[in-house]
Amino acid sequence: MDQIRIQGGRPLNGTIPISGAKNAALPLMIASLLTSDTLTLKNVPNLADTNLLARILRNHGVDCAVDGKRANNGGHIGETFHLTARDIVDARAPYDMVRRMRASFWVLGPLLARQGEATVSLPGGCAIGTRPVDLHLMGLEKLGAEMELSGGYVVAKAPKGGLRGAKIEFPMVSVGATHNVLMAAALAKGETVIENAAREPEVGDLASCLVKMGAQIEGIGTSTLHIQGADYLEGAVHTVLPDRIETGTYAMAVAAAGGDVLLEGARADLLETPISVLREAGIQIIETNRGLQISRNGAGISPVSVETEPFPGFPTDLQAQLMAFMAVSSGESKIRETIFENRFMHVQELARLGADIKIHGDTAYIHGVDELRGAEVMATDLRASVSLVIAGLIAQGETTINRVYHLDRGFERLEEKLSECGAEIERIQA
Ligand code: EPZ
Repeated sequence: MDQIRIQGGRPLNGTIPISGAKNAALPLMIASLLTSDTLTLKNVPNLADTNLLARILRNHGVDCAVDGKRANNGGHIGETFHLTARDIVDARAPYDMVRRMRASFWVLGPLLARQGEATVSLPGGCAIGTRPVDLHLMGLEKLGAEMELSGGYVVAKAPKGGLRGAKIEFPMVSVGATHNVLMAAALAKGETVIENAAREPEVGDLASCLVKMGAQIEGIGTSTLHIQGADYLEGAVHTVLPDRIETGTYAMAVAAAGGDVLLEGARADLLETPISVLREAGIQIIETNRGLQISRNGAGISPVSVETEPFPGFPTDLQAQLMAFMAVSSGESKIRETIFENRFMHVQELARLGADIKIHGDTAYIHGVDELRGAEVMATDLRASVSLVIAGLIAQGETTINRVYHLDRGFERLEEKLSECGAEIERIQA
């Protein structure tokens, strides 16, 4: 298995281009199941997850081409992706594929809406908590679907005449359940109202694309979505929004390592809470017409206290990165994780590098230390892995990160982007 090796202690200076958002690209790719026309997506990041999803969609009969060329299985995903689901050839999403990426469970709503039936394996994904799918099932049942669990699969059938619009009130905010139900509602008969919908920008990106495809959706960006289902959705051309988690990750890397970096293409409106947290910690952030300029030159790092929350709160997907940064603050910081119950697996790895962190229930107490020291560590999930990269960048000496395949799920050209800014980071191919 590949490793990443970092010689820490160097500041970052230069420009990092921000890729398209993984968590927007995935549901947008899945939306191609809703139409027999071509959905063209620009700015799709080339990641293990987008490649895997292309394979899963091909299995359902989606023709996936890059800039007019047919993409090979597992091949490179370019900037522009053309997805055409002329016919759904298979409405079954097998265990072997869905277990590897939780987002692939979101094919359930679109397949059900378009084909009237779907059989989808219960999902896997990063090991950050139990992560049930009850809200997805509840929402689709409200649209009239009949669900049965059989042998680890959800077997779903739409009523005769197709799914029907309904009022759905989610008891808690779920990004995935909102995506799943939103896509199904776009092809259901009549109006669907989703209350307590996720307001994450990636949901807004999906909704905007569905509007281009012919759906009528009001309330985009709010917690109440009104969707008028269409009989038929058309193809569209849509550009994936910039990745706010990648942006926040590199902002924290610069904050931790010091230096001055332009995050090219980054949008401040997608990251208001993380930006204010970084400013509170003493980091300079300037919005320019090219992106966000992040700098810390010599100044100390003030401790902060943060709780993860659904958007627009502080994202759980930046919690581990903030913790690596706070490991070298000048005092005591506190980070409470409220979204996932098992998302502190990076703590024991950060401790190997000399971080002083104690966990009590859902809260991590971080006592800032003067310096971290390089060591061998292990990546456990996507965001935890990148927190180890940040820690490696600040640690004195050499850090080796094992199991880096997690990183490849969500960070495009990570070593290249960081080394172009002066980091000494390399991938050791096993
Ligand atoms: C999405 O996951 C993201 N994944 C996650 O990013 C992100 O951490 C998460 O939203 C929260 O922002 C993608 O977009 C591909 P949820 P999702 O449904 O949709 C509970 C990353 O690193 N819940 O909003 O799976 C659930 O257990 C990934 O890129 C139920 O109880 O998250 C959790 O506690 C990791 N029942 C909370 O809701 C359900 O039916 C929020 O989960 C669904 C969810």
